Amino acid sequence: MSKRILSGIQPTGHLHLGNYIGAVRQWIELQHSYESLFCIVDLHAITVRQKPEELRAAIRRTAAGYLACGVDPEKASIFVQSSVAEHAELAWVLNTFTQMGELERMTQYKDKSKQHAQNINAGLFTYPALMAADVLLYKTELVPVGEDQKQHIELIRNLAQRFNNHYDKPVFTVPEYVPPKQGARIMGLDDPTKKMSKSAESEWNAIALTDTPDVIRKKIKRAVTDSESEVRAGDDKPALTNLLTIYSVVTGKSIADLEKEYVGRGYGDFKTELGEAVVAWITPIQEKMATYMNDAGELDAVLDAGAERARAIATQTLKEVYDVVGLGY
Ligand code: TYM
Repeated sequence: MSKRILSGIQPTGHLHLGNYIGAVRQWIELQHSYESLFCIVDLHAITVRQKPEELRAAIRRTAAGYLACGVDPEKASIFVQSSVAEHAELAWVLNTFTQMGELERMTQYKDKSKQHAQNINAGLFTYPALMAADVLLYKTELVPVGEDQKQHIELIRNLAQRFNNHYDKPVFTVPEYVPPKQGARIMGLDDPTKKMSKSAESEWNAIALTDTPDVIRKKIKRAVTDSESEVRAGDDKPALTNLLTIYSVVTGKSIADLEKEYVGRGYGDFKTELGEAVVAWITPIQEKMATYMNDAGELDAVLDAGAERARAIATQTLKEVYDVVGLGY
């Protein structure tokens, strides 16, 4: 039997190039060789206040984004986290295995509690236990995510081992973090020292998969660059390294080849052509996304089928967990 992979994205705002390069791009490759589950993690999204109608729209848009980028519903189960109740149920059990000190060390929690200082709720704090439930419910072997999630995966590994050792039964599979080959951390266009993020303050930080061609061109034109005008990657050129990575992903050309193409040419040409390359790459994705957004029945069918397949595995694992823990009667 092929190994199982699972990953997920929070339906907050719009999918951006960082989500695509760090996560979705790997999924569409891995779905051919692994049993794949891709989740839209709406329960995670409510750790930050969301407007109900916007959340619902973002859930559907995120699902449409997965499909438009090339996740194949015949190969992978695409589902919404809240439609498989076992995620919340297992999260509770895992909460009781998670130490406060471990959660306090999580950088995503530290960042989010700075951003949302007026609402540092318990859900935001125990977010990783829910994420552990997402992964462990399916005895997932590999978790393809960007680098910012590596710390969470480490914690999930520890939880799985701790639980198995406590009951002396290998209930959970210990999952592995799978980074993308390229672009594990795409940086903000406005600041190459910070990651591209859905929750960035500046509108110039991220390119959303739903941005219009003109907005994309403008964002790339305004992107921060490094000193001196040579187009090359390197530790001393964080902004250009980031832009070259994006260029390489959307064209399939290597960074070395792109550097050669731009020898003796400045940032102006480079940015104009990068803008056109991103627009050319994104246009068919946007067209497909619109098709799925306009066909509610088709999207519902994909999500229903995905949830059903996920549920079949999830109920089984939760039962095993309840049995070893001694829950029920
Ligand atoms: P989220 O919604 O913040 O991001 C979704 C995915 O996109 C990746 N990513 C990036 N990769 C490269 N560069 C960036 N700038 C960038 N920004 C985001 C993330 O690494 C992630 O892979 N906790 C998770 C969601 C989650 C999950 C799970 C993931 C919940 N349960 C179970 C995997 C398995 C999160 O906040 O991702």
